[in-house]
Amino acid sequence: MLDREILLEKMKVSPYKPLKGKIVRAEMVTEKEKFFRIELEEKIALGHEPGQFVMVSIFGFAEAPISIASSPTDKGYFDLVVRNVGVFTNKLHTLEKGDEVGIRGPFGKGFPVDNMFGFDIVIVGGGLGIVPLRSLIHYIMHNRNDFGNVQILLGCKTPKEMLFRDEQKEWMKRAEIKFNCTVDRADPDWKGNVGLITTLIPGVDLNPSRTYGIVVGPPVMYKFVIVKLLEKEIPDHQIIVSLERRMKCGLGKCGHCQIEGVYVCQSGPVFNYAQLKRFKGECHEKAI
Ligand SMILES: Cc1cc2nc3c(=O)[nH]c(=O)nc-3n(C[C@H](O)[C@H](O)[C@H](O)COP(=O)(O)OP(=O)(O)OC[C@H]3O[C@@H](n4cnc5c(N)ncnc54)[C@H](O)[C@@H]3O)c2cc1C
Ligand code: FES
Repeated sequence: MLDREILLEKMKVSPYKPLKGKIVRAEMVTEKEKFFRIELEEKIALGHEPGQFVMVSIFGFAEAPISIASSPTDKGYFDLVVRNVGVFTNKLHTLEKGDEVGIRGPFGKGFPVDNMFGFDIVIVGGGLGIVPLRSLIHYIMHNRNDFGNVQILLGCKTPKEMLFRDEQKEWMKRAEIKFNCTVDRADPDWKGNVGLITTLIPGVDLNPSRTYGIVVGPPVMYKFVIVKLLEKEIPDHQIIVSLERRMKCGLGKCGHCQIEGVYVCQSGPVFNYAQLKRFKGECHEKAI
């Protein structure tokens, strides 16, 4: 049992009962996205794996699933990035440093980090997909010797929507990581690539049998990226994708997140492509 689980057991915390989290940093990072750094009131580590999510609540209001944006190796706090799309996220955006939120979780299966040890890693992120990927990228950077070559490819619609641009400048400077990004539509200040993220993949040099391809982004993006990774002959079980579904409980009880009888909140959100092929509509027909 993890220390965290022993502590929660002692505290008699039900999986439905949120722990109190205090916002220690809050700032708008794009027009629609707000960054939150959170510390649990009980001063225990969240105990997450990269790729997992938490259920975030505003007491007496509502709750929603949000990916964890920081690595478990960042101790004492965890980060979230929330896009303002509707009723709950709009209210969450009104919260500032010092305010409280409820936290349940972490939930779900994260990236298969243990299986990835010793392998080369190609990370492909689109839009908000960079949020859970940042957790993995930080984890890899903090355990750099455990992994082979690392290449990061990021894409979004326009430069002003690109998250973590300052951090990306740091990643670009690191000799042991190859970094590339692209936007669908440039602005006058943009000096990088213009075009869909799929245009970056043919130029990636990789050895398929020793490479994991990690893909997170909207369905229209990951379906086409999977096709490109298959063209590179990466084996199905080494192509890893994170899915987003409507979720309520996060505990495999309510059924809101089901696809073909599989509870995404428990068996996912991270799946390998061999598993994903069983879900109708989740793969591009060229990839089946
Ligand atoms: C595992 C997981 C991880 C997530 N991680 C993040 C994250 O890191 N940052 C972030 O900003 N959002 C994330 N989301 C999405 C987030 O949970 C929803 O945006 C949120 O629940 C919307 O609540 P709302 O009341 O503001 O929107 P609503 O008023 O309920 O809906 C507004 C719009 O958002 C759409 N929507 C609502 N819920 C979802 C959903 N689960 N997936 C896709 N579209 C949805 C609705 O169809 C509608 O168009 C994640 C979702 C899941 C399942
Ligand atoms: S969210 Fe309730 S079963 Fe998955």
